[in-house]
Amino acid sequence: MAKLADHIILIGFMGSGKSSVARRLARLEHMTSIDMDIFIEREAGRDIPAIFAAEGEEGFRLREFDFLRSMPARDRCILSCGGGVVVRDESRSLLKCLGTVVYLVVDAAEAVSRIPRPEGRPLLAEGAGGLRPDEILSSRLRYYEDVADLTVDTSGRSIGQVVVAVRRMLRAAGKL
Ligand code: S3P
Repeated sequence: MAKLADHIILIGFMGSGKSSVARRLARLEHMTSIDMDIFIEREAGRDIPAIFAAEGEEGFRLREFDFLRSMPARDRCILSCGGGVVVRDESRSLLKCLGTVVYLVVDAAEAVSRIPRPEGRPLLAEGAGGLRPDEILSSRLRYYEDVADLTVDTSGRSIGQVVVAVRRMLRAAGKL
């Protein structure tokens, strides 16, 4: 598939450490990092729970896709994606063309234990009425694996340890 850009893109479930790893790696490599959730919140003028409340999950997924469409025109950067970006087919297809996709693996129990304020994540919030975190994760596993170029297990590892592992893999792949 023809590449449209050469970004480094972090994907993985909520709590896998994408945002922190992206920020730290960017600092070490003197690169820019972009946090997709923050970008979308700024553009929408409201936070993610408010976007979900007003536009539904579908509206949020569309915003994610629109944001990804802006990536080919941006300077090379480290992008941390929202955990559900892989749910939309068009977003998965686009992700594969935007650079090197690194999948940060975490299991549902550890992910939940790492998230101090679940109310900021509409899909984890109490009363969301949907699936349990482990069910959401299981429904996405094949999507994460489909999109990933590189996979890093974050279980029991600190952010610093994950950054070391990601950096090593990207170096070996000639991407840093
Ligand atoms: C979501 C993950 C969140 C955020 C939104 C939806 C998901 O991002 O995009 O709450 O569907 O998994 P993080 O993975 O950064 O928490």
